[in-house]
Amino acid sequence: MRPRDEPELLEELEPVESLDQSEPAPPIELEAPAPANAGTLKRIVKDLVSSYSLVPIPVAILDGSLSFLYMNQPFERLLESFHASGKPTLIGAIGRFLDQAHARDLYMAIKDPRRGYSWHGQIRLKAKDSSSVLAKTTIMPFRPDAASDGRPMAWVAFLDDVTEERNALIRGLFSSLLEASKLKDNDTGRHIERVNLYAERLAEALYESGQWPEVDVDFVENIGFLAAMHDVGKIGTPDDILNKKGPLDEFEWNIMKEHTINGAFILSSYPNPMAKQIAQSHHEWWNGTGYPYNLVGSMIPLPARIVALADVYDALRMRRSYKLPFDHARASLLIVADGGKHFDPDIVEVFKRIGHDFDAIFNDNVDA
Ligand SMILES: [Fe+2]
Ligand SMILES: [Fe+2]
Repeated sequence: MRPRDEPELLEELEPVESLDQSEPAPPIELEAPAPANAGTLKRIVKDLVSSYSLVPIPVAILDGSLSFLYMNQPFERLLESFHASGKPTLIGAIGRFLDQAHARDLYMAIKDPRRGYSWHGQIRLKAKDSSSVLAKTTIMPFRPDAASDGRPMAWVAFLDDVTEERNALIRGLFSSLLEASKLKDNDTGRHIERVNLYAERLAEALYESGQWPEVDVDFVENIGFLAAMHDVGKIGTPDDILNKKGPLDEFEWNIMKEHTINGAFILSSYPNPMAKQIAQSHHEWWNGTGYPYNLVGSMIPLPARIVALADVYDALRMRRSYKLPFDHARASLLIVADGGKHFDPDIVEVFKRIGHDFDAIFNDNVDA
């Protein structure tokens, strides 16, 4: 039964329930403006076009069925970069980026006088070959008084790109955490910066090969920031174990291994699951002999398989208390020999092609 205060829109909302998220949503059948008001609508659009054609953020004007009456150039470019241009309605263009709850809410809001015929929300626009954009979206009526019955005849949609703002906030927070963990960790110098760069380069090569469906532009960009977080869980490892000279006994080693689980716990609040996957699984081995969960093969999340190789390569190149630094040729031989054992053999194949870039990254980012 419908709650008493719910508007009589629910029946009209039935089609939303069957929206297929992979396909553009069908156009919403809202009330079209009455033909008698066509002249008024034309005037409204003319006014709006002159106001918004120079606005630098994406703006579109919509009629009562959310069909586009006008869009400015930034709006057009935004849709183009997400392969959403050429659709006659707003929902046709961006419906696939909305989950059902948001689509439903949008439906209701713009027809609901109690909500000012307006909708505000965030929409993440995403395509494999573009960095995703988080758009703070406002759809509001224009001059509701223009029509005799007070209902809006046209709406204005603003899409304000807040990706940078949001990323800066979240990444700033987690970068501070990383700085805190660096104070404890015995990894020296620019190790984590280099791991970011190797991981990003590997991911880029996977993307270019086109054979890794889960690797898109966002994946490459995210791993280039998150790979550095692989050992953030060491913030919870006791100093005497972390800095012990000489081999760890079994008890100490078990505590040391917990940095993966601690890292996963710390990063579980990061909005992208990649962060947690990297922290938790970067010591898993392809053949199932790694830790903490003895995952085998492709059960190990791809970002962790990439970071595992990047991390080990850099450790081989670094001077450690127990070993001299290896040169690129020797480090590469060891990595290649471990394909199918420690590392994903397909990623090792990619490494064989682009290994010289790893060498360049190491040389360009040597420790002071
Ligand atoms: Fe680690
Ligand atoms: Fe590391």
